[in-house]
Amino acid sequence: MRILSGIQPTGNLHLGNYLGAIRNWVKMQDEQNAETECFFFLADMHSITVHEDRATRLANVRDMTAALVACGLDPDKSVLFNQARVPAHAELCWLLCGTARIGWMNRMTQFKDKAGKNRDSASVGLYVYPVLMAADVLLYQATHVPVGEDQKQHLELTRDVATKFNTDFGVDLFTMPDPIISKQTARIMSLRDGTSKMSKSDPSDMSRINLTDDDDLLVQKVRKAKTDAEPLPETAEGLEGRAEALNLVSIYATLAGTTPDAVCAEFAGQGFGAFKPALADVLVAHLSPIRQRYVALKNDEAALDAILIKGAEKAAAAAEPTLKAAYDAMGLLR
Ligand code: TRP
Repeated sequence: MRILSGIQPTGNLHLGNYLGAIRNWVKMQDEQNAETECFFFLADMHSITVHEDRATRLANVRDMTAALVACGLDPDKSVLFNQARVPAHAELCWLLCGTARIGWMNRMTQFKDKAGKNRDSASVGLYVYPVLMAADVLLYQATHVPVGEDQKQHLELTRDVATKFNTDFGVDLFTMPDPIISKQTARIMSLRDGTSKMSKSDPSDMSRINLTDDDDLLVQKVRKAKTDAEPLPETAEGLEGRAEALNLVSIYATLAGTTPDAVCAEFAGQGFGAFKPALADVLVAHLSPIRQRYVALKNDEAALDAILIKGAEKAAAAAEPTLKAAYDAMGLLR
């Protein structure tokens, strides 16, 4: 069993990033046994599909690395690296560009969403993005790929690419990966508007919980979070149509490792005046130690680079046999 996943290195990590992906990865890493290996990487090669200047990109990769380690990813238990340091990703991506079909790309909903109306001015990179993602996965013969619901289609494409390559070249080279889509992962919404996702680009900082927020600020953000005047219902069903209330209950449940139903049962009949301090306590208990580790690591460029370099060496070694076999299957002398 080989678990692999990637995350785009963005700056300003927030609770949505943590509860969405990072925490699941840490769980998988900690639950792995002798037959499991975990590969987690920063998809910095994918990040070129969004224009960023040099300094920002460099800072984002290191920031995200610090955040991952602070959240509990252990470079001795997982192979943690950045994609750009392992050229095999770019190489296999190109080889798979011979296999992937334009019609397949045209069906990708993420491309349509991100390119918007003016498709002609989208970058070619954005279009080929799913092929690079297929290369990421197939290069390591990954069996399980934890991703968000929005990446499911890319994983299906990965399987199509693998099948076609194996068939076209008469080999049994690529392993079929299965997505792991965590159902429990709540979508974390803005604290100001329960219908839009918590986002690093929301102009109001009060809309999100950043991994760098200190305890006082966490308490303040929870206190000011938008709610309604109703008390908490007996069951989560009663939160329908109350987007902000549902969001706060979901955050509590996810952090405390229980369900929205259980949280409602516990606080039924109480107002947000009672619930918010409890939520703030849970947040502080979880995020305070993460923040301390993050702040300590964040500016230690040498330590962060050393982690990534070591991870890249392990990743490159794991990727080499598959890359070699792919060149060979295609009759390319390398
Ligand atoms: N596209 C993924 C996302 O935006 C990130 C990613 C890149 C990835 N390569 C991957 C995820 C390979 C899983 C496997 O979330």
